[in-house]
Amino acid sequence: MANNLLKGKRGIIFGALNEQSIAWKVAQRAHEEGATFVLTNAPIAMRMGEINNLAKETGSEIIPADATSVEDLDNLITKSMEILGGKLDFVLHSIGMSPNVRKGKHYSENNYAYYNQSMDVSAISLHKTLASCYKLDALNEWSSVVALTYIAAQRIFPDYNDMADAKSLLESITRSFGYHYGIKKKVRVNTISQSPTVTTAGQGIKGFTEFINFSEQMSPLGNAPAVACADYCVSMFSDLTRYVTMQNLFHDGGFSNTGVTQQVIEKFGE
Ligand SMILES: NC(=O)c1ccc[n+]([C@@H]2O[C@H](COP(=O)([O-])OP(=O)(O)OC[C@H]3O[C@@H](n4cnc5c(N)ncnc54)[C@H](O)[C@@H]3O)[C@@H](O)[C@H]2O)c1
Repeated sequence: MANNLLKGKRGIIFGALNEQSIAWKVAQRAHEEGATFVLTNAPIAMRMGEINNLAKETGSEIIPADATSVEDLDNLITKSMEILGGKLDFVLHSIGMSPNVRKGKHYSENNYAYYNQSMDVSAISLHKTLASCYKLDALNEWSSVVALTYIAAQRIFPDYNDMADAKSLLESITRSFGYHYGIKKKVRVNTISQSPTVTTAGQGIKGFTEFINFSEQMSPLGNAPAVACADYCVSMFSDLTRYVTMQNLFHDGGFSNTGVTQQVIEKFGE
């Protein structure tokens, strides 16, 4: 279902690791809608090589960048403009990683070096990306920057650990930079708060399978799949959403506004 919604638009897509990645689906949908873009991921993620298949499929070049390194980001953004032949119209930030989650730490006993890494990789990297674009004047007027987040920024989900704090910071950076970039150049910055989704990052969370089933039953429309998230990202990159900025947009089948569902309540009568 292609409608040329992104015809002539240029962008950068962070975070496509494998076919399950949300960023992978966004790249496929953006390509179908006529966009050209550069794919990027951390140098360590490149070694798995899967991203080459996506690059071939979408006719994209790949530039490795550690999203915590300002030097890497400056290089990525400068080279992307050269490759794509002009300033950019959209950026997808689809990056998350917590060493505390990976090592199974309890929230009350988190390691602070890891904690800093979680913030840097999962949240401050958005600030660094926007700051680099701002400095290099890399974004056209009415460009759209989207970062992916999760409702643990607003409500407690115990096993999400310090990723919850990182997502709160990510959403705050979205509002703050959205203000400054809006004033400077009418650039829009938003987060999309996605349902739990089966991906490498998602499956790193303890009890993920039980949790995804719970979420499915707590969402009137069911969990939103990754492809539907990609559709939403495409609509946010398009000119049809030009006045949406500084928002956290729930893409979760109604989970965020549901107190309880009949399906869940019935389980307590068993
Ligand atoms: N899967 C879910 O349940 C879910 C739900 C809501 C939001 N999200 C968010 O969606 C985004 C994408 O995650 P995903 O579920 O597609 O998983 P994923 O594991 O496919 O993607 C995470 C990406 O972050 C990249 N990354 C990690 N450290 C990096 C660094 N230093 N520099 C550059 N890239 C780095 C990884 O290489 C990977 O490509 C994340 O922000 C995640 O928190 C996921």
